[in-house]
Amino acid sequence: MKKLTQQLQVETQLAQAGNRTDDAKTGAISAPIYLATAYRHAGLGQSTGFDYPREAQPTRCILEQTMATLEHGMAAWALSSGMAAIQLVFTLFKTGDRLIISDDLYGGSYRFFDLLHDHYQLDFAVWHGKSQSELATLIDERTVAVWLETPSNPMMHVIDIAATAQTTKAHGIKLIVDNTFYTPLIQRPLDLGADIVVHSATKYLAGHNDILAGIVIAKAPADVDKLTFNLVTTGAVLDPFDAWLLLRSLKTLPLRLRQHEANAQALVKALTANPQIERVLYPGRGGMISFYLAESVEVDAFLQALKVISFAESLGGVESLITVPAVQTHKDLTPAQRQAKGITPNLLRLSTGIENVIDLKADLAQAIIAGTK
Ligand SMILES: Cc1ncc(COP(=O)(O)O)c(C=O)c1O
Repeated sequence: MKKLTQQLQVETQLAQAGNRTDDAKTGAISAPIYLATAYRHAGLGQSTGFDYPREAQPTRCILEQTMATLEHGMAAWALSSGMAAIQLVFTLFKTGDRLIISDDLYGGSYRFFDLLHDHYQLDFAVWHGKSQSELATLIDERTVAVWLETPSNPMMHVIDIAATAQTTKAHGIKLIVDNTFYTPLIQRPLDLGADIVVHSATKYLAGHNDILAGIVIAKAPADVDKLTFNLVTTGAVLDPFDAWLLLRSLKTLPLRLRQHEANAQALVKALTANPQIERVLYPGRGGMISFYLAESVEVDAFLQALKVISFAESLGGVESLITVPAVQTHKDLTPAQRQAKGITPNLLRLSTGIENVIDLKADLAQAIIAGTK
């Protein structure tokens, strides 16, 4: 299988992903979907490189090579969901290990970390993501890694990955970054000193609200060996059809992201100027915006009045979606935890799609009027 070369520009790498991988047989421009779960051996000790699909599968391999190239890693693994990707990274850790996590993560990550704490006695300490000296004081001899999301979800706080990497390196521990919100087109954590990157590929990488998938990328040979072994052992790999669909989606990621971002920046201006919006949170790049509706707007009436934007729980797709973190993504936090983070019932998270922004602006404006008590 030919590897994409690093010298090509990222748009070219992605548009060409999978092309020239079947030249010897058919010259197919779009990578084939291989469904076989068994591969013939020519003789003892002989293999085409594909023996059993939990270990390696041709369509998935093309996707994994593309993602490793895109994130500047050594290897990538495609899994059946973002949570499966997060779970794979945790196969590197054991009972008694301690991780420092940033304080504003996807709610499902918290749910999983609670399970790891309750069932396997992993220990978690929370860091506010701002002061490196505070981070250093949280690291003790049992600490094995720092886990962060930036920008954070849903408060859009930005954490300095390069500065955090200096702290983790000084203490000989790993830095793991969930890069779902920005994608490698906006930030490449491995270049900034992180050790491992995870994605809910369900979001921008897939981008059409139609695939559940996760990706892990690593750069150190020791991590690559362990993660490869651990995924063969645990087995939550992505199926061939979804691997192909995700590869196809990646071809348009640069175009989509440009439109998501341009739309989001225009909506930030419109929302900030609207007196019925209390506060707008936007990290400066990408397509994700959070905002607080003023008390005078009834949340349910606003949501029911939307005609273009859908009230639905996901992000990163071409269709604009709006989420109420307090009752959706972060419902498993206690009310006190939500309050402390600023996740109040009037906080909404908007995943800006690629529609014409004139329609998105008009939809928000009319729903705000319809929802005003
Ligand atoms: C930042 C982030 N990480 C991980 C996940 C989990 O991914 P998945 O839903 O694909 O399992 C999500 C899901 O919303 C997410 O937003």
